[in-house]
Amino acid sequence: MKILAFNGSPRPKGNTRQMIERCLKPLQEKGYETEIIQVGGTLLHGCKACLACKKTGRCVFNDDPVNEWIEKMKTADAIILASPTYYANMTSELKAFIDRSGYVLGPTGILARKVGAPIVVARRGGAMNVYNTLMAYFGIHSMIVPMSSYWNLGIGREQGEIQNDEEALRTMDNLGSNMAWLLEKLHA
Ligand SMILES: Cc1cc2nc3c(=O)[nH]c(=O)nc-3n(C[C@H](O)[C@H](O)[C@H](O)COP(=O)(O)O)c2cc1C
Repeated sequence: MKILAFNGSPRPKGNTRQMIERCLKPLQEKGYETEIIQVGGTLLHGCKACLACKKTGRCVFNDDPVNEWIEKMKTADAIILASPTYYANMTSELKAFIDRSGYVLGPTGILARKVGAPIVVARRGGAMNVYNTLMAYFGIHSMIVPMSSYWNLGIGREQGEIQNDEEALRTMDNLGSNMAWLLEKLHA
C-alpha cells in the first residue's frame, strides 16, 4: 500500500508538514509505504489551458516536476493534499499542481476509487475554504474520502505551533487510522 502526501507549504518543516507526519504515523505502523512530496517552494507553471494533455496524456511543461509527480499518483493507493491557508485559499504552488494533475489524470479515470484526504493549517481563518476546495478535487475524480473526528484542520502560525493544537493532532491520528482501515477494506 502506498500513500503519497503533497505538502503545499513552502516551509518544508512547517505546521503542514507536521500535520501530514502525524496522519501518516498510523499508516506507517501498518507497514504501509509513505512519501511526502514538497510542492510548496517549487517553481511550477500554472495550467495554460493548451489542452495538449488531452492528446498526449502528459502536461506540456517539462521543466518542472509535475509530470514526475503525476506518474507517482498513478501507482499510489492514497493521496493526501495538504496546504496552509494563504488569503483564505491554498498556496499557489499546490493550486498549480492540482489544476495540471487534474487535467492530465481526470480523463483517464485512474484516480477513481483511490483514497484521498485534505489537510489544512491556518493561523485564524479561511481554512474551511481550503478544505472544501481540496475536497472538490477528490469529489470530481470519484475518489473515496475517509473522515475524522473533526474537519482536517489545525491552528498555528509559527513553525511548530501546531503542536499546541491538541485537537488537530488527535484529528490527524484519527484520520490516519481511518485511512488505514479504509485501505484495508478496499484492498481485502
Ligand atoms: C502569504 C500568507 C498568507 C496567509 N493567509 C492566511 C489566511 O488567510 N488565514 C490564516 O488563518 N492564516 C494565513 N496565513 C498564516 C499561515 O496559514 C500559517 O502561518 C500556517 O501555520 C503556515 O503553515 P506552514 O508552517 O506549514 O507553512 C498566511 C501566511 C502567509 C505567508
